[in-house]
Amino acid sequence: MTKMPELVSLFNGMGGACAALISLVEYPHYADNKLSLLTIALGLLIGSISFSGSIIAYLKLNGTLNKPIRLPSYNILNAVLVLVCFGLILGMVFVPALNNQAMLLVLLTLSLLYGVLFVLPIGGADMPVVISLLNSFTGVAAAFGGFLYNNQVMLTGGILVGSAGTLLTIVMCRAMNRPLFNVVFGAFGGGAAAVDNSTAGGSVKDISTADLATLMFYSKKVVIVPGYGLAVAQAQQIIRELENILEANGVEVKYAIHPVAGRMPGHMNVLLAESNVPYEKLVEMDEINPEFPSTDVVFVVGANDVVNPAAKTNPASPIYGMPILDVEQAAHIVVNKRSMNAGYAGIDNELFYNPKTSMLFGDAKKALTDLVNELKQM
Ligand code: TAP
Repeated sequence: MTKMPELVSLFNGMGGACAALISLVEYPHYADNKLSLLTIALGLLIGSISFSGSIIAYLKLNGTLNKPIRLPSYNILNAVLVLVCFGLILGMVFVPALNNQAMLLVLLTLSLLYGVLFVLPIGGADMPVVISLLNSFTGVAAAFGGFLYNNQVMLTGGILVGSAGTLLTIVMCRAMNRPLFNVVFGAFGGGAAAVDNSTAGGSVKDISTADLATLMFYSKKVVIVPGYGLAVAQAQQIIRELENILEANGVEVKYAIHPVAGRMPGHMNVLLAESNVPYEKLVEMDEINPEFPSTDVVFVVGANDVVNPAAKTNPASPIYGMPILDVEQAAHIVVNKRSMNAGYAGIDNELFYNPKTSMLFGDAKKALTDLVNELKQM
């Protein structure tokens, strides 16, 4: 599950490559028809961008390319490249002298280059948005293939993928607070903001399993914040057991679901559905945020960036502007993770140094199992 985004990127890249190959193969058969030529050229442009962009996204997600690479004035370079590609397409369609195989190969090369340059500068926390955007590109490229062949299944499939990807991109842009315009022109990821100027520091307080069990046992309301670490540890069953025990003792338990918690859209919903957590207990960020002031204990399990107050307080942070779960408003905050290491965005988290925060260090599955055993004895 945690490797899904890489797999999605690869599959997506293959879809883009297929669309581009259709254009290359079919060009000689349709070169005389202006509408077909336009379809072929647009399919080649979008398919190639999707292919090379997805491969770079794959390399970023699997850690091979782990730093955003930003050429000087990359925004301008990217915008010029797109304009040149569109100019070339119009030239091929309307200027007979430019309508030849060599121009098609130039268009292929520039499109592949744009895909690379478009994704290279994008920072870690923005990758979900770009994957979704590339997914919609692949759908559109496939739709051009369907239009060319007059194949309605291919056309409909492409439009469905394209529109679903676009909707998901918009929803995720809202969740990450990134304007779509910035996404399209590669201006997101924060530029120099990728440097962490976090003000985090100070002392960190531990909590023992026994103390946490007592704290939760005597609470009225506990909100669990699941994150990537919960998925890695495969601790979804045991967290459900924790919920059951607490509820049997009259404690109200809810889960706070951040839209980009984990590594893919809906990751936490799917994970918790595996252990039959009732769907109404999964509360979206906007709905749960007003509830934190009336929460006795927030239990953050393997989550980090989605509860990082730097998103609200530090304009130099790469996640600045991303809406987060306002867990610091609860009476007690307990964070389970294995170490003080950073999360996906690679930045420190001042929440861990908050006087209200206690750390429960250890693998989520082991820590939760110990906690459940402790609660069973109370
Ligand atoms: P992260 O910020 O990545 O934090 C996860 C934390 O889990 C880490 O700090 C890690 O700390 C801890 N952890 C890892 N293995 C663990 C284990 N076995 N037991 C306990 N803890 C463990 O996760 P998040 O808060 O869920 O935020 C998601 C991030 O991923 C965001 O930056 C988001 O933009 C990005 N992202 C999201 C998506 C989508 S669409 N969901 C897609 C791609 C990227 P230790 O190493 O100290 O244990």
